[in-house]
Amino acid sequence: MQGNAGLAHKAGNAGLARSARLLRLFRSEQTDPELYYATLAQDAVQQVSEYCELPGRTVVDIGGGGGWFTAAFRERGANCFLFEPDPAELRSRKTVPAGAVIADGFWLPVSDGAADLVFSSNVLEHVPEPLKLIEEMIRVTRPGGLIYLAYTNWYSPWGGHELSPWHYAGPRFAARRYVKRYQKKPKHEVGTNLFRVHIGPTLRALRARADIEIVDARPRYYPAWSRPIVRLPGIREVATWNLLLIMRRTG
Ligand SMILES: C[S@@+](CC[C@H](N)C(=O)[O-])C[C@H]1O[C@@H](n2cnc3c(N)ncnc32)[C@H](O)[C@@H]1O
Repeated sequence: MQGNAGLAHKAGNAGLARSARLLRLFRSEQTDPELYYATLAQDAVQQVSEYCELPGRTVVDIGGGGGWFTAAFRERGANCFLFEPDPAELRSRKTVPAGAVIADGFWLPVSDGAADLVFSSNVLEHVPEPLKLIEEMIRVTRPGGLIYLAYTNWYSPWGGHELSPWHYAGPRFAARRYVKRYQKKPKHEVGTNLFRVHIGPTLRALRARADIEIVDARPRYYPAWSRPIVRLPGIREVATWNLLLIMRRTG
């Protein structure tokens, strides 16, 4: 693992072209999920590699869905283990990664400090107690190991997922509008499988912990130089889109 100064320098490389590519990619989630998730996974794993070496590392992928991220970690030489509670999500990809485990992120069948890196992409906003999930992520990370945590916060333009941008008018209104427009129920129901997670309160709760340090906090999909956005209370809740936190377990 590298020192914080070196990490911030390396993480400055991804530029606007990457953000534009990702923006175009988002349109293909429904039409070509394989392309969408495989590309997003490559991008996230590349981001991780800016903070730590991957070959030979033990990685825990929590809520990894069909396993695109696990596959991408394995391609880069990491020993990645996929934990996903929903069998339907697990089967959403043609090939489920070998050794995938059906498990809830709140109760991982992993011993304390077993992982060099614990990874979670877009899971936090889908659990009722986000801080408890983070607690479990910290438990399985070894002292000195890293945690990659990325999530779409509620006031992001995509905070309501398929209900967006009408979630700004409230979840009930947004759900009614969705049903009227598409004649079907939305995949996500706020309070059931989508929860309002914010940036400020999460950062404050994490900064108060003695067992981790925040190595980096930045908008996930924007260039690294956009990280000052995350320091602006209020504005960050709308402008960040998706928060990426890199944390190191210290104790
Ligand atoms: C939006 S998908 C994200 C999938 C993948 N990580 C990605 O970034 O594309 C949310 C995932 O979180 C999973 N999930 C929901 N509750 C969970 C929990 N309690 N523990 C672990 N994963 C959970 C869901 O089953 C689903 O696979």
